[in-house]
Amino acid sequence: MKTLILFSSRDGQTREIAAFISSELKEQGIESELVNLHRTEEIHWENYSAVVIGASIRYGHFHSSLNTFVKKHFQMLNGMPSAFFSVNLVARKAEKRTPQTNNYTRKFLMQSPWRPDISAVFAGALRYPRYGWLDKMMIRLIMKMTGGETDTSKEVVYTDWQQVTSFAGDIARLSTERRVK
Ligand SMILES: Cc1cc2nc3c(=O)[nH]c(=O)nc-3n(C[C@H](O)[C@H](O)[C@H](O)COP(=O)(O)O)c2cc1C
Repeated sequence: MKTLILFSSRDGQTREIAAFISSELKEQGIESELVNLHRTEEIHWENYSAVVIGASIRYGHFHSSLNTFVKKHFQMLNGMPSAFFSVNLVARKAEKRTPQTNNYTRKFLMQSPWRPDISAVFAGALRYPRYGWLDKMMIRLIMKMTGGETDTSKEVVYTDWQQVTSFAGDIARLSTERRVK
């Protein structure tokens, strides 16, 4: 039985974090499968012993596929060990990097019929050269207002990989504890 890792990513950082979690789980002897949440069709739940969902924020919102997926599958999700992580730039500030202090994550968890066993918030990446003109200007404005990087020639990865490693450890424990019960 494997752990299913679903990711909702626009520019690739959430996918990268999901892949990192997958390799950390592998080191602990847990096989996993990475699946793009935007392209899921039928999920064979019987193949999985645990599920992880990671999703990024754009202009204040998760991708609509996340809510659609959760609405459709929450009973299945609630019936197995599950974990959620969100990725955004507000979380580059340590005090906004917990599910309780990160507004996007707190709201999602409050409104969601899915109750993940564990949740985390990770800081994402700022990649100005890859954005279109309008996005670049909008992000720069937000960064200016919040005291962040405004040099549009830069790419900055704020993700704390040690934090991701620790979360992967929690996921590994969650899967094995439940299996023992
Ligand atoms: C167009 C755009 C809008 C964004 N809006 C927000 C936002 O409202 N709040 C925030 O904290 N981060 C915001 N971000 C930052 C992303 O959440 C961050 O870059 C993250 O790493 C993206 O993950 P992804 O590559 O998996 O999509 C935005 C990024 C882009 C490119």
